[in-house]
This record gives sequence, C-alpha cells and structure tokens, in this order.
Amino acid sequence: MRVWRLDDGRQTLALAATGDRLPQVVYWGARLPDAEDLGTLQAAQTLDVTGGMLDENPDLSICPEATRTFPGQPGLVVRGQSGTPLLPKFCYAEDEPNGDQLSLTYRDEDHGLTLTFHFAIDEDTHLITARTRLEADDPVHLHWLAAPVVPGPQLSDEMYDFSGRWCGEFQMNTTAWSPGLRYRENRTGRTGHEHFPGLLVPVRGATNAQGEVYGFHYGWSGGHRMVAEELPDGRRQVQWGHASRMEASAATAFETAPLYMVYSNDGLNGCAVAFQRHLRDRIITWPKPDAPRPVHYNCWEAVYFDHNVEILKDIADRAADLGAERFVLDDGWFGLRDDDTRSLSDWQVDPRKYPEGLHPLINHVHERGMSFGIWFEPEMINPDSDLHRANPHWALGSEDQTLGRQQKAINMALPEVRDFIYDRMAAILRDHAIDYIKWDHNRVLPMPDAAQTRGSYALIDRLRADFPHVEIESCASGGGRIDFGILKRTQRIWLSDSNDAIERLRIQHNAALFLPQVVTGSHVGPRTCHTSGRVIDISMRAWVAAQRHMGFEMDPRELTEEETAVLGEVTAWWKANRDWMAGADILRLDSADPAVLAEQQLSRTGDRFVVFAGKEDTSRQIAPRPLRLTRLTPHAMYRVALINRGTAHHLSRGTPVLKSDPIEVSGAWLMTQGVTLPWSFPATMWVLEGTLIDGKDG
Ligand code: GLA
Repeated sequence: MRVWRLDDGRQTLALAATGDRLPQVVYWGARLPDAEDLGTLQAAQTLDVTGGMLDENPDLSICPEATRTFPGQPGLVVRGQSGTPLLPKFCYAEDEPNGDQLSLTYRDEDHGLTLTFHFAIDEDTHLITARTRLEADDPVHLHWLAAPVVPGPQLSDEMYDFSGRWCGEFQMNTTAWSPGLRYRENRTGRTGHEHFPGLLVPVRGATNAQGEVYGFHYGWSGGHRMVAEELPDGRRQVQWGHASRMEASAATAFETAPLYMVYSNDGLNGCAVAFQRHLRDRIITWPKPDAPRPVHYNCWEAVYFDHNVEILKDIADRAADLGAERFVLDDGWFGLRDDDTRSLSDWQVDPRKYPEGLHPLINHVHERGMSFGIWFEPEMINPDSDLHRANPHWALGSEDQTLGRQQKAINMALPEVRDFIYDRMAAILRDHAIDYIKWDHNRVLPMPDAAQTRGSYALIDRLRADFPHVEIESCASGGGRIDFGILKRTQRIWLSDSNDAIERLRIQHNAALFLPQVVTGSHVGPRTCHTSGRVIDISMRAWVAAQRHMGFEMDPRELTEEETAVLGEVTAWWKANRDWMAGADILRLDSADPAVLAEQQLSRTGDRFVVFAGKEDTSRQIAPRPLRLTRLTPHAMYRVALINRGTAHHLSRGTPVLKSDPIEVSGAWLMTQGVTLPWSFPATMWVLEGTLIDGKDG
C-alpha cells in the first residue's frame, strides 16, 4: 500500500494505491488529523460485494483504466500510430512528494507509455492545481486524456455548471445526480459563451454562505470536456480534459491543462474566494502590480466603425471629464474596415480615417491624462482582406466553410502566420504609445484543434515578452474566452457585450464564483441599451459598473447634466474605494427575496465592506425582506450606512433608520437578522458601506 496526502489549513486530499496499481483519491474534504492512517481509510471504505458484482470493485483511480474492468468512462483513450486502440495497464514507477506538491509517475512497459500526475496545493488560496502528462516511446494518437480524476461527493443531490450565449454569459444549470453521465463537451475551439469550464458540486443543504461545496475549473481556452458520472455501484467520478480528439497528429507527449479544484466548508463563497484570490494573486501577471486599475472609456458603442478624429477627440475630452483614465479605440481603425465584412488581418492604420496616423488622437488622449488602448482581433481574417488575397491557405478550415461574422480564423499553428501577425502588431505597438490591447476572438473555429489554441498562446506570450508594459483584455464577442488559461496571459476580461445593467447584474453575480473584481470589465452603457432596447436609469448603470473594473461605453454626448452628475459621483466613489476593493473578496449573499441579487465585497482584513443589493425585478411581497450579510466577526460592531439613501423614491414613505442615518450594529445581528433596506423600484441598486468600529470588538 502506498499513500500520499496534500493538506492546507482547511482541506486534505489523500491518495492511496494498492500495490503497484494507480492510486485513488480516498479522501477529499475537511482537514484530517496528521495522525490519520490513510491505509486504514482505504481499507475501511472499500465497497462490499454482493450478487451480480465482480469479486472486487474496480478502482476509481486518478486515471480509471478500461483494462481493470472499470465500469465507467476511462481516463485515457489512446491509439497506436496505425490506429489500433491501446489498452494500457499502468504500474508504479516513482513518486516525488515535496511539501505542498506531489508528482506520481506510472509506466506501462508493454505499450511504452508513461503517465505523470502532478498536484499542488496552495496554503493561502486553498486551490489545488492538478494535471496529467502522457509520454509515449513512439508517437500515439490521443483521443482523451483526463486531468487527475477525483470522486464526486455522495451526499450531494445536484451539480451546477455553466452555459450561456452572446449577451447572456454565465447561466447556471442545475443537474441532478443520477446513474449515468452529465457530459459537457465544448467542440467550438474556444472557451465560448456556451461552455464556461466550471463546475460546483454542493453537498446537500449548501448555499452561497454555508455548507460544503466542491469547485472545479479547467484552465484551457480551446474547449473542454467534463464528465460527471455516477457508476452502477453508486460511486461518482469527475473528469476534466481538453475536448476529445483535438490533437490532429500523433505525438510522443501530451499534457492536460491545469485543473483547479477546491473544497469549501463555507458555501459557494468558499469556492468563489479561492478562485478569485488564486486567479488574481497567483495566475495573472500585472505589468504594474501596484498601479490602481484605471477607469476605462471604450468608444465601440459610441461610434462603431465610423471613426472621425475630431469626434473621437471630443468624446475623449468628455470621457476624461467624467473620470476616465484609459481610452480604448475599438474596431474600425485599420484596413478599410467600414463594417464587419472586411479587413481583419490588415493591421495597418486606415489613412482615410487617420490621414496623419493615430498619433494626433493618441497625443490628444495623453494630453487629457488618459493612456491609450487599441483593439485587435489577431487570430481572424476576412476573405475580403489583402492578406487573404495574398495567402488564402493561411485561413484555418476548408474553403467552403461557413463563415462567422463574415470571417475565418487563421491557422495559428503555422509559425509563418504567427510571425506575420506578430510583425504587424509589433509595428503598431512599437510606433505608438499604446499600453493596452483589447484582444478579440469573434467566431468559433471550423473544428476543435488544440494546436490553434497553443498557437494563440504562443503569439500572446511573445508579444507580452517583447512589450511587457502592455496589458491585454480578453474578449470574444463579450465573454467567449474566459478561463484561467487565457488569464495567465491577460489582465482583464470583457465579460459580456451586454451593457444592460439588469442583465449584467446577474452575469456578474454568477461570474464572481470564479472571477475577482479587478479582472472583470464592466461599462456604463448608453441610456437605451443597444443589445436589449431597455432604458435604464444612470444610477443603476453606474452602480453595476462600479461593482467591477469600471468603465464607460456610451457616447458621452448623450448625457444630460443630471446623468453627468450621477456618473461623476459614482466614478469618484469607485476611485476612492478601488484600492481596497481590488483585493476584496466578492461574496454572494443568500437573498430572501429572489428579486434581489446581492453581494458583499469584504476587504482582506475584514475592516470594511460594501454591499450591492440590486433589484432585478418587482418583488412578490410588498415590503423588502431583510438581507443577511456574511463572513463578519459576530461580536464586533460595525457602522453601516446606506450611501445612496438620497435616491429613495417618494413612494418609499416609511422611516427605516437607514434612510436617514448610519447604524452601529454587531456582526451577529448583520449575519443573523440582516439589514432591512427601504422599498425601491425594480432596476435600482442599494449600496451599503460598512466599517469595523475600532475598540469595540471582542
Ligand atoms: C466584439 C466585441 C465588442 C466589439 C466588437 C468590435 O463583438 O465583443 O466589444 O469590440 O467586437 O467589432
């Protein structure tokens, strides 16, 4: 018997192997005592056998093997070069336990295959990172390789995973566990709106703020496969990997992307905080780690393709007056890009729109105290482009493929293509004072292809190495490429093309299960939303943007004096608070009223918080229900103020004290009774600030 364990303060992941067989995760959950004998655990939880069963239950190992009569999906499907299925049986080769890391190597001599599993646990963020690597003596065809496979919890009735669409990202699906598979396979070639690679498995009774939850995220931008399977004997397994059959050629080495996993004993928020902190503090690399996140202005919804330098300068002036600190020039500045039918890949400034180049606009933006960012869609090509006319074979996929937004992807696996695109982009970055790229990817691939994703990563990595001061925002028609693989190379995501604050409220709420405030772009859109037609008050639009990395995207020329004033105030509030909010945890609140979607951002030291209680809809009941806060110190006293109480509508006629004054109350009261907010219209947001009162805790 061989055993291994990884621990942090709150969780233990324990592995045990019988003889030379692949190990099983025999325990994953609340921290076990150091004295626990893992061999005993393995023996004690071995399943009994009765009529109709094999004489021993096959291992649910970290790579379940078809050759060991495993009754579910195997962890590896591989063929020899001639196409013959290989049926390996792995035996122990070596292990390398190293504090918070563990490597295990297993070998199948008959087929010349080696499997290496790597685990790492982070004491501070509580995230476990796990990956599997396959090496072969001779080239093999890979169909499926799972990152280390873990058992699913038994006292769990359901699981939550994510789907979505353009302007409707991060929709949560609930699926009951039942015999058989929940199988998600994303064959679009990009992370996609439809398939955010995340899974949360609550133990019965878990909510946002309490209970046990297991969280998973697969950090890869080329499309994933997830298997959550209940075996005939009742055991459950969770597998993650690249979408199957994504490797076009035989090779001697393959590796999964990192699988991020976490056990939480304080609800969905325990997973959310682990993902948020790990992404922000361990994965993302920031060109200027200490600089505050600048308020953005993006001109897309103001001018679309209709670029005129004088108008853009005027817009930039107004954006600066509103408080913007970075101006992002969106699509339309290059080639002959008057609409979305042409010019992608012709990354040269359009002399018709910019007769003196981009410099006059950039200089103007700088004079107004803003930095300058620019839009690219590097992996794409329009058939109507100079590059396509010269090199049609650089496009990925067949000639008669169905286009997406009138464009094709270019073949990023070809080094000459990457060099060409690099040169064009590098020329723009070298010749201009640009410190930000909005990097778009507006169509799915003609077929899934891991080499394409690797090629995209290589191009980004090269540009980052040569232009280390340039930040990148990952966009794909909004939130179509959001995952920890792309975020290892970028610093912001464009969460959604929906600037409808009501839709955003929910998208942001769900995305916070994985994404921290600092990476999540959120812009104040036009009064009449361009993608929903809804007319939303400026206060709601501004506060929803202020929940995340704030920016503006409306045409500022449409703003009334009153709207300008409200936007100015909320932006000033955001700037005054952004430093502590950048490091805060976003905690989803369990709202007694389904019409209220609320979150609490709690500073790392716990000394202050802000609650955003957004009203998505009209409530069923006539008066507001109290809202419980979370993760405060029960015996500490807090001063709580409704900072936008001045916006209470005259139909709110009562006298709840928060309408006039701050209150001083205990953490216990805030977390058990909760705050009763004034009555409000739908599509409005209450904003509460809380501060710990010194000297009164304990
Ligand atoms: C995508 C993005 C938008 C905008 C357009 C430009 O749709 O999501 O924000 O940049 O492309 O064409």
